[in-house]
Amino acid sequence: MEKKPSIMGRMFDRIAPTYDRLNTIFSFSLHKAWRKAAIQALEIRRDDLVLDIASGTGDMALMAMRRGGKVIGIDLSCPMLMHAMAKARKQGFGTEYAAVQGDALTMPFHNDTFKTAMMAFGIRNVQNMEIFLNEIHRVLTPRGRLSILEFSMPERLPFRWLYLVYLTHVMPCIGFLISGDYEAYRYLRDSVKGFPAPEIVEGIMKGRAFRIIQSTKLSGGICHLYLVEKQ
Ligand SMILES: C[S@@+](CC[C@H](N)C(=O)[O-])C[C@H]1O[C@@H](n2cnc3c(N)ncnc32)[C@H](O)[C@@H]1O
Repeated sequence: MEKKPSIMGRMFDRIAPTYDRLNTIFSFSLHKAWRKAAIQALEIRRDDLVLDIASGTGDMALMAMRRGGKVIGIDLSCPMLMHAMAKARKQGFGTEYAAVQGDALTMPFHNDTFKTAMMAFGIRNVQNMEIFLNEIHRVLTPRGRLSILEFSMPERLPFRWLYLVYLTHVMPCIGFLISGDYEAYRYLRDSVKGFPAPEIVEGIMKGRAFRIIQSTKLSGGICHLYLVEKQ
């Protein structure tokens, strides 16, 4: 599937109603621990302004707000952001969260705006990782920090084989049964398999003037946390 913003946006519009439920089912709730690790790494303090790129249904934003941050979430999909805003209001963070519909490759923010940014399970979906990294570099302040969570492929056998079976056969079927959308979960499988290994991602980040502060394998390598600083 092409990663054009119009195609990506429509796909996430379709699966927005079941997104949170499927996240929890697919990851056996592990996504909560992955998010916690990413938020802890950012050391968010009271009243820090945090940019949440590919904000989706707002789970990262909610965790950042619980630590006292104020969050601007940007995402292509309006229905995903509507869920995020409803969740923020319900949890008493109605005024701490602002949602912007837009593309991570052309963000409507001035240079050097954010000291802290995060992106969970979004970088795999952007059309061009280098352009995205240039764009986030532009909006971060000097020495501003970005945490990225993304799926990766475990290296150790037989875990890798088991995970491949799960990713290839089990996830698209469960995704289809719950969301009614087979294509979206076939895309999930293909995009996870096609995403570069952490060493390659690190190389691309270094090439875009980011210093790697932390690069950590999570849950045996099915997820990876990158913490980088603008140089
Ligand atoms: C897998 S979801 C992750 C959502 C959320 N960050 C989370 O952790 O649950 C990917 C999100 O990225 C958004 N997205 C994909 N491509 C994007 C782009 N180019 N710019 C902004 N958002 C994008 C989608 O609309 C979707 O909400």
